[in-house]
Amino acid sequence: MSPSKTPVKLGLLYSSTGVTSVVESQQRQAAILAIEEINHAGGLLGEELLYAGNDTRSLPSGFRAEGERLFAEDKVDALFGCYMSSCRKAVLPSVSGHKSMLFYPTHYEGFEYAQGCIYSGAAPNQNAKWLADFMTQTYGSRYFLVGSNYVFPYEINRLMRDLLSNRGADVVDEVYIPLAAGRAEIDDVISRIKQNDPVIVFSTLVGQNAVDFYRAYDKAGFDRTHTPICSVTSGEPEMAAIGPDAAEGNIKVAPYFSVIDSAANQRFVTHFRDRFGDGAALCAEAEAAYFQVRLFAEAVTRAGTTNRDAIERILPTFSLEAPQGMVRVDAKTNHTVLWPRVGVANAQGTFDIVREAPSPVIPAPYLIELDDPEDVSAADLTEQYP
Ligand code: ACM
Repeated sequence: MSPSKTPVKLGLLYSSTGVTSVVESQQRQAAILAIEEINHAGGLLGEELLYAGNDTRSLPSGFRAEGERLFAEDKVDALFGCYMSSCRKAVLPSVSGHKSMLFYPTHYEGFEYAQGCIYSGAAPNQNAKWLADFMTQTYGSRYFLVGSNYVFPYEINRLMRDLLSNRGADVVDEVYIPLAAGRAEIDDVISRIKQNDPVIVFSTLVGQNAVDFYRAYDKAGFDRTHTPICSVTSGEPEMAAIGPDAAEGNIKVAPYFSVIDSAANQRFVTHFRDRFGDGAALCAEAEAAYFQVRLFAEAVTRAGTTNRDAIERILPTFSLEAPQGMVRVDAKTNHTVLWPRVGVANAQGTFDIVREAPSPVIPAPYLIELDDPEDVSAADLTEQYP
């Protein structure tokens, strides 16, 4: 394998405007933090690690165009980013065409493998399945599904229907609102929930859709101790935008919450807030945006190149200490071994962790047997990151 051209340059695909900028702006900051830490420790392959990337505007067309531009003009070695699945799908053809890589830091619906794509967010067996268990054991058996109108909510709801039905629960209604929804669409969802009350809400709304809905749910006076909004999506950045009082009691299942009690997380939270301000809200999607840059840098150091095939081969051979715990890329799926946790939003704008996996969970993006115990098999992550 010939050595890489240097310096290595990363293409960052994150939105600072549009519907999901509330979380993507934290993801971008987390990626920049990882790059700055790597540079502080001496850079990559002996040179400063560089990055580029303009606002992708929360639009698939914005992601596609910026991905192409980063390859053509900035000559980046790999892309890092995307939040909505529609945006990831818009970028993958050019990643493949350039024989390059996309490191994707967001939970998603599963049922995908693309050469060169590394999935560092949760697959459904690492979040939806844990949420279905928690909801049905804690709250009851009547569910209302509400989502934003694009691919991820439809696909996760299809799975969630099966997961709930396997646990003896019913879905009473399923509705979708446009990504650009206004007051009228949100009010309509609230009236449909009222008609079915009491129901537990499973939300696959993203970004500003979620912020507007959670506020309206609070205003309508639903009792969140018995009928919370549950999701795998809305974390601290959205809670900060909603206001902690209006969000308290709602549930998120994810591999990371900022309150995780470990030295690695303490370091991450302190560095993040020192760099981006005390009010900076962290979430699983930002943590993955951070550790996936470190995973890539470690793989490049070990391989001595940014060549896609070499990086894909080497990634599963080591574990890395991420803020959530030890993680590793799974050789069979290019998804990541992660630590599912259930969090309840509190009045401080963070989440109390009320359940966590005792050991890291191997990704099962195809859910070959939806409720097979194999889906939650534990990984052995013995190798320490140097
Ligand atoms: C998502 O669209 N994967 C949140």
